[in-house]
Amino acid sequence: MSVVPVDTTHPDAAVIANAAARLQAGELVAFPTETVYGLGANALDPAAVQRIYAAKGRPAWNPVIAHVPSIDAARALAREWPASAQRLAEAFWPGPLTLVVPKAAHVPDVATAGLDAVAVRVPAHPVALALLRAAAVPIAAPSANRFTQISPTTAWHVVQSLGDRVPLVLDGGPCSVGIESTVVDCTGPEVIILRPGMLGRESLEHVLAPLGIPVRHAVRRIAHDLTALPDGLDAIPRSPGMADRHYAPRADVWLFDTAQRAEIVDALERWHAERPRDGQGAVPVYALVRTGPPDSGDRPLPGHVRQRLMPDDPAAYARTLYGALHDADQANAGLILIEAPPDSPGWDGVRDRLTRAAR
Ligand code: TXA
Ligand code: MG
Repeated sequence: MSVVPVDTTHPDAAVIANAAARLQAGELVAFPTETVYGLGANALDPAAVQRIYAAKGRPAWNPVIAHVPSIDAARALAREWPASAQRLAEAFWPGPLTLVVPKAAHVPDVATAGLDAVAVRVPAHPVALALLRAAAVPIAAPSANRFTQISPTTAWHVVQSLGDRVPLVLDGGPCSVGIESTVVDCTGPEVIILRPGMLGRESLEHVLAPLGIPVRHAVRRIAHDLTALPDGLDAIPRSPGMADRHYAPRADVWLFDTAQRAEIVDALERWHAERPRDGQGAVPVYALVRTGPPDSGDRPLPGHVRQRLMPDDPAAYARTLYGALHDADQANAGLILIEAPPDSPGWDGVRDRLTRAAR
């Protein structure tokens, strides 16, 4: 595998041309986007798309996003182009938004997992855009990690997760958004948020309201019990990839409310007491806190807790979250305690990923 640094202000034309030629030949190339790194293949070449599923160990029922450099290139993959899709694309592309639209006949079934709809996105990253223009074919790209692992926000994360399963990684530095794009279903009379992201519901509503198109979440939010499974998962329309355990570090993950800072210490003591002794020394515990450490009063915190102060702003939090989870995985953490985000709309994307990680 080779990792090639690419300048993000002036992507090296020779590097981009080489990567594009590999994609056209059916090979896999990992590349940076503003959200997370993608594992790319020619979306119109079924054998190439199959290679993505094999490299990730991803089940065939989970469809992938086709990345394109322009609205016109996205429309070419759609059988119909809904008014909602046009308005959202004009407002937010290039950017962290994926539109699910009726699929054109020439898009292979393997890319959409047999669904009649295709997911399309124009990413806002100079390296991704240069690559998409040079490749001149739509690039199917899920996040560049093994199935169920944490999505990569640096080239190094890609290397750690996929190793020699990907021959070429373009290194464009750390991703600026840090969690995956907002995915919306534009195939019906309402726009449905299938996967929350940093582009929130208010922003979508703001541009769709003049067209009279409502926006809603596919999964009902559970305000105060963040460790509970969101209900209504089987009611999610046409998005098979949403229901399973994703974005998961290997450690157990517990979310706790700021008000539970004392209870979490009791729970941590029980966790330590119940762990079989393996003679390997203390298993590291990570605590990702926003407002302050777990409150143990006069008692010492049990075990070996590494605390990390996370930003109290959703955009900055999203940018650092996966890196923090990767660090915990690398340290073989047994448990990650995470102070839950506030229950406000700006945190929807972050709250979604934390809820899934804690499942
Ligand atoms: O930010 C992102 O979206 C990143 C970067 C690389 O662009 N990509 C990404 O891809 O997160 P992936 O494959 O990890 O997630 C794609 C999500 C899946 O949950 C999948 O179920 C959903 O989009 N999806 C893809 N095609 C769909 C379709 N035709 N209908 C409904 N959902 C679809
Ligand atoms: Mg993924």
